[in-house]
Amino acid sequence: MKILVTGGCGFVGANICLTLNKNGYKVYSLDNLKRNGSKFNLKLLKKSKIKNFNIDIFNYKKIKRLQKFDIIIDCCAEAAVEVSKYHLDEVINTNLIGTFNILKKAKKDKAKLIFISSSRVNSISYINNIVRKKVLKKKIKIKKKINEEFNISDPKSIYGFTKLSSEMLIREFSYAYKVKFIINRCGVISGPLQFGKQDQGFVSLWIWKHIQKINGKYIGYGGYGHQVRDVLHIDDFINLIKIQIKKINSINNKIFTVGGSTKSFTSLKQLTNLCQKITGNKVKFKKQSKTSIYDIPYFITDNKKVTKTYKWKPNKNINDVVNDTYKWLINNKKKIKKIL
Ligand SMILES: NC(=O)c1ccc[n+]([C@@H]2O[C@H](COP(=O)([O-])OP(=O)(O)OC[C@H]3O[C@@H](n4cnc5c(N)ncnc54)[C@H](O)[C@@H]3O)[C@@H](O)[C@H]2O)c1
Repeated sequence: MKILVTGGCGFVGANICLTLNKNGYKVYSLDNLKRNGSKFNLKLLKKSKIKNFNIDIFNYKKIKRLQKFDIIIDCCAEAAVEVSKYHLDEVINTNLIGTFNILKKAKKDKAKLIFISSSRVNSISYINNIVRKKVLKKKIKIKKKINEEFNISDPKSIYGFTKLSSEMLIREFSYAYKVKFIINRCGVISGPLQFGKQDQGFVSLWIWKHIQKINGKYIGYGGYGHQVRDVLHIDDFINLIKIQIKKINSINNKIFTVGGSTKSFTSLKQLTNLCQKITGNKVKFKKQSKTSIYDIPYFITDNKKVTKTYKWKPNKNINDVVNDTYKWLINNKKKIKKIL
């Protein structure tokens, strides 16, 4: 079985490539190495003899000429929510036209598609309504979990729009051309091969700040650091991808919400305490009340459907995520400093 992983030199893509390769699959990556740090991951792929096609996902002419694949796992995106507000062409071309191009290739090859979507397809206003406070002086109680039925009709960020419109295009290709798909709407994913950069997610950024003793800020919601997210360990996510590949002929054309849920979540403040404990370093966090229009105070995933369908659930908690990412960052500190 031949598998193409787009964005194969990114955080999620490279982890998927390396694991599937170890599990005996013939894996290929497509990545234009645009992202800072992707060249580091490319070296890991090369060591494992995984070929990367250095192609822009916007360029269908080149994609069309590639060999036939059985499965395409689409992990290619301009993945930063904030960036999407300022780099419109880039985000639409990579995230939406990119999906269109991959769908054309999947149609041509009769390949199945596993698409990595995002919890950001959900409406910001409805997420804000769960907490209903602009200032969070106290810890938030974990109540509502967000599933596949949550409201998606209000604005969600340009990034979220490209993910939702990609999902809709995938369903059209499935209806018209019988392209089989799985869509995973993921919350925050974290773990080794994340470089501690702002736009790669807050967990590795927090750990890196503590390792390097760099002060930071609690931004938004009064600056108390009580906003909450679930965080899925990359190993748990890859375990799900492995099951989805094995069952792709019998289970397909479905959308799942996937996340750390109540097994693995944290507020910024709790994350600071955890990072202090693990690194032994203390850094200061200033309060900054104002935040971006794209910020949300809360996200906890409901994994009910994905758990029922695949008997999968996350096994690792936030301590595991922080410990494993910390070890990886420490072991690669010198090289990472050059990337950042
Ligand atoms: N990391 C998370 O927390 C998270 C959460 C939900 C969904 N996702 C989704 O998972 C996927 C992977 O995210 P990630 O965190 O690994 O991001 P990443 O930025 O680490 O990886 C993306 C990769 O795509 C490549 N790329 C970007 N534009 C390209 C283009 N035009 N042509 C070819 N390659 C290009 C980059 O070089 C990079 O290696 C994305 O679709 C993202 O939206 C990630």
